[in-house]
Amino acid sequence: MGLGTVAVTGAAGNIGSVVRGALRSQADRLVLLDRVPLQAQAAHEETHVVDLRDPVAVESALAGADSVLHLGGLPDEAPLPDLLEANVLGTQHVLEAARRAGIARVVLASSNRVTGFYPTAHRTGPREPVRPDGLYGVSKVAVEALGQMYADKFGLSVICLRIGSFEEVPTEPRHLATWLSPRDAVGFIRAALTAPPSTRFATAYAVSANTRRFWELPEEAVLAYTPVDNAELHAARIAGAHAPSDPSAPQAGPYALPENTLKHIRP
Ligand SMILES: NC(=O)c1ccc[n+]([C@@H]2O[C@H](COP(=O)([O-])OP(=O)(O)OC[C@H]3O[C@@H](n4cnc5c(N)ncnc54)[C@H](O)[C@@H]3O)[C@@H](O)[C@H]2O)c1
Repeated sequence: MGLGTVAVTGAAGNIGSVVRGALRSQADRLVLLDRVPLQAQAAHEETHVVDLRDPVAVESALAGADSVLHLGGLPDEAPLPDLLEANVLGTQHVLEAARRAGIARVVLASSNRVTGFYPTAHRTGPREPVRPDGLYGVSKVAVEALGQMYADKFGLSVICLRIGSFEEVPTEPRHLATWLSPRDAVGFIRAALTAPPSTRFATAYAVSANTRRFWELPEEAVLAYTPVDNAELHAARIAGAHAPSDPSAPQAGPYALPENTLKHIRP
């Protein structure tokens, strides 16, 4: 208990499923939204089938929440119209519902892919200009900008988490830098939900304490969580973990390749 009523969009997804289990014991009520049906697994869970593109449905499901964890949307490269609808419009609907309902905290799932074109040798922090590696990254830039605008203009308290590679365990060389373990994901999300109300707006990378990480960890004053897992401990089981790597290669790895985006653009 202690978190009050927490609403989670995208609750049926990879991260949502893990976070739901972790927050269950700390929330007085969990309001779970997804476009696919969910089953309540506890008396204080409430489920809603909601398409984020429907502002009325979003507002009605979020009414009464103390905070919102917005995970719903398309999590990878897709045609821009789809990304604009699910990620950008969907986020505006969540922020607008939060504004109208006076919800104290909104945590937005952003992505490391907003800065995917910085080279791996560069330690990237949240205040540097964005360098999205594709259309998905562009949609998350807009997600962050919407959060900033709702904070500046309407006084909402918004925290954007630039999530790394959320995986049970790291399985490929890039993960040695980008892995976000389930335990650390829960830690960052809980810290974002409980950061002081005086936090008007913040952006932070959510990544495990990987030896090879190329993103700055959040300052303690922004997010009171120190990650505990390190992908390096799994390196022995990852093919190519010790192969030479190009320090000028983009942090996004294969996601930065032109074909990754071109396949979603009409020829
Ligand atoms: N998994 C990662 O490594 C990672 C990395 C960076 C950022 N993120 C972001 O974190 C969030 C969660 O990621 P995930 O891996 O759990 O993704 P996921 O695809 O497993 O979950 C997303 C959920 O959103 C729901 N959804 C999609 N469009 C919707 C719509 N229009 N209306 C209602 N629900 C909709 C889906 O049904 C799904 O359950 C996403 O916003 C993603 O962009 C994830």
